[in-house]
Amino acid sequence: MVNNSKDWVKIHQDRINKILIEYFNSKKNNSTLHKACHYAVLNGGKRIRALLVYATGGIGNADIKVLDQLAIVFELVHAYSLIHDDLPAMDDDTLRRGKATCHIKFNEAQAILAGDALQANAFEILSSSKVNLSDQKKIFMINMLSRAIGKNGMVLGQSNDIESSNKKLKMSELENLQELKTGLLIQVACEMGYLSCEVSDPKTKKLVKVMGLLIGNIYQITDDILDYESNTHVLGKTAGKDRDANKSTYVSIAGLNASKEINMAFFNKLMKCIKALPGEKDNIIKLINYIYLRSH
Ligand code: IPE
Ligand code: IPE
Ligand code: MG
Ligand code: MG
Ligand code: MG
Repeated sequence: MVNNSKDWVKIHQDRINKILIEYFNSKKNNSTLHKACHYAVLNGGKRIRALLVYATGGIGNADIKVLDQLAIVFELVHAYSLIHDDLPAMDDDTLRRGKATCHIKFNEAQAILAGDALQANAFEILSSSKVNLSDQKKIFMINMLSRAIGKNGMVLGQSNDIESSNKKLKMSELENLQELKTGLLIQVACEMGYLSCEVSDPKTKKLVKVMGLLIGNIYQITDDILDYESNTHVLGKTAGKDRDANKSTYVSIAGLNASKEINMAFFNKLMKCIKALPGEKDNIIKLINYIYLRSH
C-alpha cells in the first residue's frame, strides 16, 4: 500500500484521479461519446468507492496495481449511475460536481450512451488481464458486482426511488430502498477490496461485508441531510431537490434531528465493527470520518 501519511484520503484521491486520466488517454478517440464519458468521470468527485477499495485492500496488503484497476471499475460504474440519475426522465438535474450535468453539456442521447458505455467498460477492465488475480476470483467479482448493480440491486433501488415520490414510505421500506440504490455498490467496493488480498479470512470477510452496508447507510443518510441543509454552491448539485420532488428520504420520513441521531447510531455501530477488524485500521477510520463529516 501507499505509505500511511497525514492525509491518506487526499493521497488516494490524487492517485485515482491520475489513474483515471491515464485510462482515458489510453482509450482516446475523437468521438462525442468519448468526450461525454471523459467529462462525466473526470469532472471531480470525491472518489469514495475507489477509496473504499484502497482502504479494505489495505487490511491484507493487496497488490496496489490490482486495487488501482478495481478503483477505476467502481468510478466508471458510479459515474454511469450518476449520468443516468441526472437525466430528465429521472431526477432531472442540471448541476453535478459544480458543473453542468452530462446531458446538459452534451445532449440526452449522448449522456444515455455514455452511461451505457461506462458500465460495459467497467466489466471490460474487471475481466481483463490487468487485474492480476485468479480467473476464479475475477469471475466471482464480476458476478458480485453485476448482481449488486442489476435488476435486484442498484437499478431496482433507483426504480423504487423514482416511485417513492409523493409517497410516505415506512422506515423499513426506505432503508431497503437506500441499501439498494447506494448501499450495495459501496458494500461490494469494500468486499472486492478485501477479496483482492492474497489471504482473506472468513471472519474478516463477514465483518467487511457488514461494515460496507453500514458505510452505505451513513453515506446515504448524510446525502439526504445535506440535500436538506446545505446549499447548491457547497454541494455542487442543486440543493433541496429531494424536497422539491417530494422524494422519500430519511429527512422527509424521520425529520432532520432524528435523521442525525439515526446516522450517529449507525456511525457508532460501524466503529464497533471496525474495532473488531484485524490489522491496520487507521486509514479506514479516516475514510469513514471523511464520509460522515463531509460537507458535499
Ligand atoms: C452521489 O454520490 C450520488 C449518490 C450515490 C447519492 P457521491 O456523493 O459519491 O458523488 P461524487 O462522486 O463525490 O460526486
Ligand atoms: C443517486 O441517488 C443514486 C445513484 C446514482 C445510484 P441520489 O439521486 O440521491 O443522488 P444525488 O443526490 O442526485 O447525488
Ligand atoms: Mg436519484
Ligand atoms: Mg439524484
Ligand atoms: Mg441525493
